Amino acid sequence: MTVRSVPHGTSDYEAAVRLRRAVLRTPLGLDFTPEELAREAADTHLTAWSGDQLVGTVVMTRYSDATVKLRQMAVSDETRGTGAGAALLSAFEDLARARGFSEIVLAARQTAQGFYARHGYATDGAVFEEVTIPHVRMWKTL
Ligand SMILES: CC(C)(COP(=O)(O)OP(=O)(O)OC[C@H]1O[C@@H](n2cnc3c(N)ncnc32)[C@H](O)[C@@H]1OP(=O)(O)O)[C@@H](O)C(=O)NCCC(=O)NCCS
Repeated sequence: MTVRSVPHGTSDYEAAVRLRRAVLRTPLGLDFTPEELAREAADTHLTAWSGDQLVGTVVMTRYSDATVKLRQMAVSDETRGTGAGAALLSAFEDLARARGFSEIVLAARQTAQGFYARHGYATDGAVFEEVTIPHVRMWKTL
């Protein structure tokens, strides 16, 4: 499995959006707005590949000089549980560290809280609702 960054607006970025839509939005009866996707131009889009097959993706958004936000982590149904999520998370942390950030924050779906917890992320505060489902704030110091 290889992990690489893909530029916003390219066909690989569009493939990542399709995967995010299928995993994170369609099951909830939701979709991205054009404005939401346009706002991602400044973000970093990491993708995981098995050969030429896109199997996972995650988005890095700068939050402050010290902090980045991890968003939109999604692994394809067929690939789940085979290490793609862990590979993306590790690449995300390496890149954030290399760029001089010292903290990662995210809004984790409650169903994925255990995934982040086993990779050293702490939970911060109460459960809240986002995209119609329960989430928790999590963070990790690099
Ligand atoms: C959550 C998600 C990104 C994890 O990716 P993945 O590729 O399935 O995870 P991996 O195979 O790399 O698993 C890494 C470890 O985390 C564990 N794990 C994976 N998903 C987990 C979960 N939901 N809860 C608890 N532990 C989990 C695995 O068992 C594995 O443990 P191990 O190292 O002891 O073997 C993926 O399941 C997914 O896309 N889920 C649906 C969308 C979603 O919830 N995204 C996150 C939004 S915040």
